[in-house]
Amino acid sequence: MNKSDLISKVSEEAEISIKDSQKIVNAVLESIEEALSKGEKIKFLGFGSFEVRQRAAREGRNPKTGEVINLPSTAAPVFKPGKKLKDSIMRFERRKSGLPKIISITSGKGGAGKTNYVINTAIALAQKGLKVYIIDADLGTANVDVLLGVRAKYTIEHLVNGTKTSVMDIVIDAPGGIKIIPGGSGIQALADLSEMELNRVFNMFEPLEDHADVILIDTGSGISKNVVSFLLPADEIVVVVTPEPHAITDAYALIKVLNEKKVVKPVKMVFNMVDDIEEARNVARRILEVVGRFLEIKPYPLGYILRDNNVNKAVKMMEPFILCYPNTIASKNISEIAEKLNPNYQGANIRLENSFVYEQEKSIGFVAKLKKFLSR
Ligand SMILES: Nc1ncnc2c1ncn2[C@@H]1O[C@H](COP(=O)(O)OP(=O)(O)O)[C@@H](O)[C@H]1O
Ligand SMILES: [Mg+2]
Repeated sequence: MNKSDLISKVSEEAEISIKDSQKIVNAVLESIEEALSKGEKIKFLGFGSFEVRQRAAREGRNPKTGEVINLPSTAAPVFKPGKKLKDSIMRFERRKSGLPKIISITSGKGGAGKTNYVINTAIALAQKGLKVYIIDADLGTANVDVLLGVRAKYTIEHLVNGTKTSVMDIVIDAPGGIKIIPGGSGIQALADLSEMELNRVFNMFEPLEDHADVILIDTGSGISKNVVSFLLPADEIVVVVTPEPHAITDAYALIKVLNEKKVVKPVKMVFNMVDDIEEARNVARRILEVVGRFLEIKPYPLGYILRDNNVNKAVKMMEPFILCYPNTIASKNISEIAEKLNPNYQGANIRLENSFVYEQEKSIGFVAKLKKFLSR
């Protein structure tokens, strides 16, 4: 960040003109300068302190010749970071080493099996020892809690209206060791917030940075702005496709929108409710053929889930099928493809490398990522 960035930021946050912000920033910097020129110490609680330190005269060496020289006493500026600043530096370090991976799941049309896919994939990943959170962001049918047999008391709406102040206050524990963040009517509310309000709400998600390894977002279906804005900033997008002709057309329409938005993140396809692998391959071929002809985007076929009557039975019992029917074919299919989404999965890059090149994104903070959701 340089001075003009700082001026823009102050102007934005204080809602004042750039000119006024310039005056303020200049006044602050000049005051610091002036105080230092008088040899005063400046202390900002939490942020840190500036001071001038007198360094005693000492002996040194000429770095080139190695000759011993006498260095006179000098005044040197010293900045000591305070606790808040140190914490930010630590957070930066932690982020570099292990950011939660955000995966958004969507489909061209409703009823493709998104929510079942999300829940059971989440549990499959949790079974590998990962800490998995689901954000239920489907405006149309938010039913992650219902399918898991748990009940949401608080939702993102309570973060928006200020009843709750941290995402951890609205998280619910669900079967299989996963955690749910219910969206409720909060998702619509988010879409209507001003940029500043949205930042306020997303800051409340910061604790997730420490708690989550993977965050799955169950979005709505279709190509409305509300759905698409929950896809673009994700680290990966998974499109669930079923073999009916109109489901294929809708999936193509969705992929076309992602293409228009110039998405550079991996877009992956899961073929659900297929009768056999041949049918999955057929659907993949049909989509990839049109995509290849008209679009630049390269959706990657992640895998398939067979039509399995135990899925319906589990839905009626309000239990995830991977828990009540762990040996049923759909559970096996889910476990196989879940592994490919595992942030620790080594094979993913090797396999993808041959066919697609994805733009490497620089590592940014989780909350910074969240702030990109809905920001366009
Ligand atoms: N692999 C599958 N085999 C059989 N039925 C399935 C399968 N996947 C989903 N279903 C059924 O499809 C219906 C819709 O699933 P759901 O996950 O709620 O879809 P979405 O979230 O996309 O609207 C559910 O009733 C579920 O039982
Ligand atoms: Mg759903």
